[in-house]
Amino acid sequence: MANELNFSGKQVLVVGGSSGIGNGIAQAFRAKGAAVAVCGTRGRATEYSTDEGSDLEGLAYAQLDVGSPGAIEAFRPSFDRLDILVLAQGAVIYRCGEFEMAGFRKVVEINLMSLMSCATRFHSMLRDAKGALIIVSSTAAYHSTMGNPAYNASKTGAVGLTRTLGEAWAEDGIRVNGIAPGLVDTKMTKVTTDNPKRLESALARIPLRRLGTPADMAGAALFLASPLSSYIIGQTLVVDGGLIL
Ligand SMILES: NC(=O)c1ccc[n+]([C@@H]2O[C@H](COP(=O)([O-])OP(=O)(O)OC[C@H]3O[C@@H](n4cnc5c(N)ncnc54)[C@H](OP(=O)(O)O)[C@@H]3O)[C@@H](O)[C@H]2O)c1
Repeated sequence: MANELNFSGKQVLVVGGSSGIGNGIAQAFRAKGAAVAVCGTRGRATEYSTDEGSDLEGLAYAQLDVGSPGAIEAFRPSFDRLDILVLAQGAVIYRCGEFEMAGFRKVVEINLMSLMSCATRFHSMLRDAKGALIIVSSTAAYHSTMGNPAYNASKTGAVGLTRTLGEAWAEDGIRVNGIAPGLVDTKMTKVTTDNPKRLESALARIPLRRLGTPADMAGAALFLASPLSSYIIGQTLVVDGGLIL
């Protein structure tokens, strides 16, 4: 069993691996022996700090803004083989910004359109390696999220895309699955976690009575990339401490 979680000799790319959940997933694969590359929006790795949930130690960093037209197609990775692709990029706009079409489009572009662009960009490498693709969506895909129509629609779309690519790429030997996190302490959720009242009411709704951590999400990612999940395709695993039960 322990051997199945040994990723020595594997190349992993985590888009959105510069901070938070993606960064936790990247570091977990590194701890299990993989060579791991990560992307984020900033020019260089030194522009990230641990206060924001970034630990880039031992990871190969490259800039990739998935919202920038043509950037994914033009992206030249530092590796020529890819075993595991994790798509953890995500954005949200608060204060009703997603009710404006510009905001709606921007969030859907980053959270949904870029998933398909990244998946197709790396499809042949994943096929050559008989690899795994893991898409990070959200439990927001399973209920309404007041104030965030684009975030909700994009994450719901991500679950559907996971299912459909899972079926389509099974014949290529690529296993596509997803993770739907609940409430995880990252820079994206500071708006809730930095506000004592909001935090208290959020915790009251989580049966495990704690926020999720990037490491909690990483456990699911390691499983979905490993032979332990060899007969699972197209599924999105809810990892939420019971939030949406
Ligand atoms: N935290 C939660 O409670 C929660 C719950 C459900 C789902 N999720 C999902 O989990 C994923 C990770 O989010 P997080 O909570 O870990 O927040 P985070 O720390 O803000 O991480 C978001 C990641 O996406 C990257 N990103 C944002 N816009 C991008 C763009 N235009 N191009 C490329 N990369 C971009 C960020 O890069 P920079 O570091 O350069 O900004 C960062 O690496 C997202 O898909 C989010 O929707 C989070």
